[in-house]
Amino acid sequence: APSTTFSKAKDAANYLQHTLDPKLQKPRVAIVCGSGLGTLADAVHEQAKTAIDYSSIPHFPLPTVQGHAGKLVFGFLGSETPVVLMVGRIHYYEGHSVEDVTFYVRVLKLLGVETIICKLTNAAGGLNPEHAVGDITLLNDHIFLAGFAGLHPLRGPNADEFGVRFPSLSDAYDLNLRRQVHAAWQKIEKADKRRLHEGVYAFVSGPSYETRAECRMLRQLGADVVGMSTVPEIIVARHSGMRVLAFSLVTNNAVLTPVPRGDDHLLQSSTTSDLDAILEEGKANHEEVLEAGRLAAQDMQRLVVQIITDVFEN
Ligand code: 6GU
Repeated sequence: APSTTFSKAKDAANYLQHTLDPKLQKPRVAIVCGSGLGTLADAVHEQAKTAIDYSSIPHFPLPTVQGHAGKLVFGFLGSETPVVLMVGRIHYYEGHSVEDVTFYVRVLKLLGVETIICKLTNAAGGLNPEHAVGDITLLNDHIFLAGFAGLHPLRGPNADEFGVRFPSLSDAYDLNLRRQVHAAWQKIEKADKRRLHEGVYAFVSGPSYETRAECRMLRQLGADVVGMSTVPEIIVARHSGMRVLAFSLVTNNAVLTPVPRGDDHLLQSSTTSDLDAILEEGKANHEEVLEAGRLAAQDMQRLVVQIITDVFEN
């Protein structure tokens, strides 16, 4: 008998194939858009562009935030590459199961998607001081602490239709694609201070940001950036043999300096507002994260279109 995961994904894929115009039924690339990059949908050629609300797709988990109903946008990017954009997505910290947050990847696989680009722009905190606010980190590896502890999207009966029981992740982030990303980066126009790095992403479930001690721990373990999205779906994509490209936008620097000590004599004469100022420095906040995302959107959009042109049209 087919696995439950396969049957449900098949229902969703069948629905999409029955709804879509034949020329849109086989997207080659899927691009998962974060809050900052919904505008990429505007770059999709108007002709043939088709949006399908998540709420109409069988078994598709819905974002919990009201008014942020997600949609799939099918169409063409670059000159002629068939793509599908995920506009709006769900996160583990909203309360969905890890199976639900990765369900859409199964559906994309059944539609024939070969390459998935996750996720533009996913916000991350910089742990490596070289990865400054506004820079882009192209993931070349990850640390999935939750997976070590048993919270894993592939736990349970293996969906054999998609892949093997014990998939390897030693080459999860496609080297050839990463080489092409660096070349594409050189070609595009961009805000001049923004840099592109490669690095290791640490996934944490959120929704709180990390403590200072946790940031130091993750840095010592070899992570360059830390965030709350992007790893479970990459594992599911690799399970079924899709190629993966993943980017983070460094929206703030994680604070690595230890908390001030209550017995620090140098602080004895400090007033409450002095102490507040010391504690406020570098503290992560959601508004700053959103602002960095807005500023980076245009560069990210140019980069994606360039990558698609270089990789799929040459
Ligand atoms: Cl500092 N941590 C996490 N977990 N996610 C983030 C972040 C930090 N900054 C943006 N997203």
